[in-house]
Amino acid sequence: MHDLAPWRRRQGLKQEDLAHLIGVDVSTIKRWERGETVPYAYNLEKLLGLGFQPDRHAPEDGALLPTSASRERPSLQHKSGASLNEKQEHPSTYVVQDRSNQEELTRLLLQDRMITAGMGGVLPEQLDVTRFQRLLDIGCGPGGWLLDVAQQYPHLTSLIGVDISGKMIDYAREQASAQQVSDRVEFLVMDALRMLEFPDAFFDGVHMRFAHSFLRVWDWPKLLLEVRRILKPGGLLLITETTLTSTSTSPASSSLKQLLAQALTQAGHVFPEGIIEGLPRMLRQHHFEPVRTHLLEITYHAGTPEGDLLIEDLKRIYRTAAPFLRKWVRLPENYEELYQHMLQEVRAPDFVVQWPLITLWCTC
Ligand SMILES: C[S@@+](CC[C@H](N)C(=O)[O-])C[C@H]1O[C@@H](n2cnc3c(N)ncnc32)[C@H](O)[C@@H]1O
Repeated sequence: MHDLAPWRRRQGLKQEDLAHLIGVDVSTIKRWERGETVPYAYNLEKLLGLGFQPDRHAPEDGALLPTSASRERPSLQHKSGASLNEKQEHPSTYVVQDRSNQEELTRLLLQDRMITAGMGGVLPEQLDVTRFQRLLDIGCGPGGWLLDVAQQYPHLTSLIGVDISGKMIDYAREQASAQQVSDRVEFLVMDALRMLEFPDAFFDGVHMRFAHSFLRVWDWPKLLLEVRRILKPGGLLLITETTLTSTSTSPASSSLKQLLAQALTQAGHVFPEGIIEGLPRMLRQHHFEPVRTHLLEITYHAGTPEGDLLIEDLKRIYRTAAPFLRKWVRLPENYEELYQHMLQEVRAPDFVVQWPLITLWCTC
């Protein structure tokens, strides 16, 4: 994009100013101007919004722009001409309806630490990622998982996290900057229920953790089709989900969990035969071969660092997901009382939760 620098100067903008306007590092602007990389579709839209008109030369190899997705962009434009990010949002299918909810952001940060610790790390030990370069995390939340991967695997040159929530993405970007990995890690606002705005055969791996929280059973086929398109042949899809069958020593917590499971079922997020059977079936139907399935039951004890994180998570989820629960199930009149009981019960020194997870890795 050698025409970017002359355009920027005509606008009276310094590289720092443009970086600030687009929300990227100055080093990224420099690379674009030197023609070493081109902007992701998302950033190009911002540039276009500022009045930049790229000349239409053939894009560089490996660039994100020459995608069937981006070629189809005009059809994604809102009638008013508003950009992808300005157009009306789809109503949320996520268990927390409010995309700007600060408490949910905090909860996801706690949950990320407790799950990653409980699983013994970010990626299964047996997984050979040395051949990986590019990795995508769908529904990345505040970015904890992807940032940990970036720190642990410096050979990964491009890690991209997408999430529908601008609040999560803003936070994740700040963290990438603070951890000095924003040259390799990028976070984009994207609705995974629409299309994944990346070129065909672009990623070596795609990761999703707890995507059932926003995917209804009927949303999986379209997403899997998109994931298959953007994965290189032989690329890997790594999925971690909860089985919704956790047990605990707190009766109130069990009742609340039951309500959440009912609401998820009513809203269409739960495979009729359960996730352990249903998800591999869905994957096979869409040409993904689960090469490894790992069932793991994490035990969280009060008084341990992870147990305490779980308790903080429980305190928040039944507040942030309350509108979703109200929408899909008849909440008992004593919901508030139940919640208060749960708060007391989880403080017991012998409070224990068993949380089953399933991890699948699949090739296509
Ligand atoms: C349960 S959180 C999991 C976050 C992260 N994967 C983790 O495990 O720490 C689900 C995330 O999906 C995001 N989300 C919800 N609907 C989405 C959609 N349609 N497209 C992309 N992300 C979405 C939410 O904003 C939230 O950050």
